[in-house]
Amino acid sequence: MASDLMTRIDEAAEAIRDCSALRPDVGVVLGTGLGDFADALDVDTVVRYRDIPHFPVSTVESHAGELHVGRLAGRAVAVMKGRVHYYEGYSMREVAFPVRVLRALGCETLILTNACGAMNPDMPPGSLLVTTDHINLMGDNPLIGENDDALGPRFPDMSEPYARRLVALAERVALDLKIPLARALYVAVAGPNLETAAEYRFLRWIGADVVGMGLVPETLAAVHGGQRVLALSVVTDACLADDLHPVEIAEVLAVAGRAAPTLIRLITEVIRRLDETR
Ligand code: HPA
Repeated sequence: MASDLMTRIDEAAEAIRDCSALRPDVGVVLGTGLGDFADALDVDTVVRYRDIPHFPVSTVESHAGELHVGRLAGRAVAVMKGRVHYYEGYSMREVAFPVRVLRALGCETLILTNACGAMNPDMPPGSLLVTTDHINLMGDNPLIGENDDALGPRFPDMSEPYARRLVALAERVALDLKIPLARALYVAVAGPNLETAAEYRFLRWIGADVVGMGLVPETLAAVHGGQRVLALSVVTDACLADDLHPVEIAEVLAVAGRAAPTLIRLITEVIRRLDETR
């Protein structure tokens, strides 16, 4: 018998399929301040999250709640404009639910974007990064609880959460477009507060370059479900323990907004050249 989760995923996917004949095989999730990407799409349908059964709706103003289905660089793509976060009070399973739905729609490749703060002094605000690995310090995990073997294994492997071939493609594309792109180790925290100087010092000490409040729940669910993940981040603020300044959220959004056009060019070209990773 299908699990409740499976039934909810199927109902959500069905509602989206009812709105568009396109069958996307790439999913893109847009993070804080990066919503402009959806405008790059030759859009077929926009489905509001609140019209998709069981879909979580964001409470954060900077996150619109719309799924855009359309064409980009010759492929059918589903773009999530806005996502929900654990700190909003959603369970990890709810945070990861849209990724499950993208999988059910046929999105075998998932491109996740997000804003993050950098403890690594070589990654100033405005830097673009590709995540090659992560540390989960959120204290929770979307895979906890009953496992539906039809969705993925009980103990999913995490030796390569971010597909090496996608990382390599992103780096080739970045080189061709002359966009600086550095590799980063991402640590996820629950938030919603930003970190203390002592916490930034600790996060740097354990080896992380950047910190954020997202990415990891989605990646865990995607890897569990057999999707290939590419994670691209914009550094929006410097998190230097010995030179810490108050962060203005407006400034975080402004930095992300300024980086968005470059990130859009990068993602568009990655999607155009996805066949190189097969
Ligand atoms: N911590 C610090 N700075 C940030 C974060 C975070 O989680 N996300 C974006 N900038």
